[in-house]
Amino acid sequence: MPEPRTAPVTVPSLSVRKRRAGAEPIVMVTAYDAPGARFADAAGVDVILVGDSVANNVLGYDDTLQVTVDDMVHHTAAVGRARPGALIVADLPWLSYHLDVADTVRNAARLVRAGAQAVKLEGGRVRVPMIEALVSAEIPVMGHLGLTPQSVNVMGGFRVQGKSHGAAEALVADAKAVAAAGCFALVVEGVPGPLGARVTEAVDIPVIGIGAGPGCDGQVLVFHDVLGLGDRTPPKFVRRYADLGDEAVAALARYVADVRVGTFPDDSETYH
Ligand code: KIV
Repeated sequence: MPEPRTAPVTVPSLSVRKRRAGAEPIVMVTAYDAPGARFADAAGVDVILVGDSVANNVLGYDDTLQVTVDDMVHHTAAVGRARPGALIVADLPWLSYHLDVADTVRNAARLVRAGAQAVKLEGGRVRVPMIEALVSAEIPVMGHLGLTPQSVNVMGGFRVQGKSHGAAEALVADAKAVAAAGCFALVVEGVPGPLGARVTEAVDIPVIGIGAGPGCDGQVLVFHDVLGLGDRTPPKFVRRYADLGDEAVAALARYVADVRVGTFPDDSETYH
């Protein structure tokens, strides 16, 4: 088991974790409920992301576009009740930060009141006014560039981004813009490894990669992918550390069998 954490992870302590300055890589994982948050925290992750990927992993949707602010508040509050020492970042869902700045701040405030210490939003230069408004309302913001799942229809599917010279240059410009607007960290998803490393080099805030190669300041994976709890073939960039889905079915099948043959409950499991 990992050493117990000596101090909670905070936005200031995370925002200086650049590997080029000698920092340890940042580890982030999603969690959507209190048990998930407890497991992630006990394992020693730095950041728990209440991702809008709750849509695919828990709520049975095909993409993240169906998730609402109410859904995110509900799951953020559940994670918050686990009181992890890891930093809690909650995703602003689609359309909660696209319409206007006041709406963005109000929606982010709901996530903070539910237990988030920071929010994450997708997009580059176009989001600068929203990021600046959040920062001036004292809400720390994590950016998210590259394969941004809320843009699935614009991208025509979940495809690797930044493959052309122009797209790579645009991504680097977006990274610099969201960093200058006040983001304290940045997720870069689904880009070629060399581009992940280039973005990491281009900004002074930590860059956390998912499918962006080993050259980032940290890595993030989805809880259900790491533990083998999903019902889809995970993308190439996932490393699966357990097959808990298979173990769950096997355990439940043993319970079914025990009840059917009459060996559960036995005397020790019965009140006298
Ligand atoms: O919602 C999510 O799981 C995410 C990660 C893929 C970074 O945003």
